[in-house]
Amino acid sequence: ITPHLIAPSMLAADFAHLQRDVDMVNQSKADWFHIDIMDGVFVPNISFGFPVMKAIHQYATKPLDVHLMIEQPDRYFAEFKEAGAANITVHFEACTHLHRSIAAIKELGCLAGVALNPHTPVHLLKDMIADVDMVLIMSVNPGFGGQQFIEHTYTKIRELRQLATGVNDSLLIEIDGGVSLSNATALIEAGADVLVAGSFVFNSANPIDTIEALKLADSD
Ligand code: DX5
Ligand code: ZN
Repeated sequence: ITPHLIAPSMLAADFAHLQRDVDMVNQSKADWFHIDIMDGVFVPNISFGFPVMKAIHQYATKPLDVHLMIEQPDRYFAEFKEAGAANITVHFEACTHLHRSIAAIKELGCLAGVALNPHTPVHLLKDMIADVDMVLIMSVNPGFGGQQFIEHTYTKIRELRQLATGVNDSLLIEIDGGVSLSNATALIEAGADVLVAGSFVFNSANPIDTIEALKLADSD
C-alpha cells in the first residue's frame, strides 16, 4: 500500500513570513505544497496569483500542487507551469471542455487533476476517469479556509474509488477542506491518497509535528 500524501495549503500561511512558512513545510514530512488560486468569480474570494506563487516556488523543495478555483483556467496553464506548478487541478464546474483541459495540462508535463464541488456527483466523471491523474473532492465549499468538513465526503470517496477500479487503478484521490486529525484516518480508510490541510496545520502550536501526525494517520 502506498502511503498517503500530505499537502499543506499555503492559503493558511502567514504571507508576511512566507519564506519562514515555506521552510517549515520543506523541513516537515509534507509531500506537496497546496497552492489555492481564486479569481473572485468562480469562488467568492481572491487569494493570490503568480508573484506570490513564484515566491513560494523560489524556496520550495517539494512539488507545487496547484488548485485552480478560476473560470476559463486553460488561458493560464502555461503560465502556471512557468511559475512552478507540478500538478494542475481544474474545477469540473469551470470547464466546458474538460477533456481538452486535461489534455492541455498533460501536454505541459504536469499531473492533471479535476476538482468536484460538494454538489457535483462523482458519476459525472465516468467518461473522464481514465484520463485524469487525480480527482480532488472538495470537502467544503471552495473559497475559504477554516470551514467545517462535510461528512458526505466519505460516500463520494468510496463511489469514486469504485468508479476508477479497473479503469484507472493509479488514480489519486485528494481531499480538500476541513481536514484534521479527527477525520484523517477515516478519510484514508475510505480511500483518500492525498490530504490537504490548511488551518489545521498553520494554526497549530507546532505545524511540523501536526504534519507528521497527519502523515502517520493511516488504516493500520
Ligand atoms: C478552499 C481551499 C482549501 C483550503 C483548505 O477553497 O481549496 O485548499 O485552503 O483549508 P482548510 O484546511 O483550513 O479547510
Ligand atoms: Zn485547495
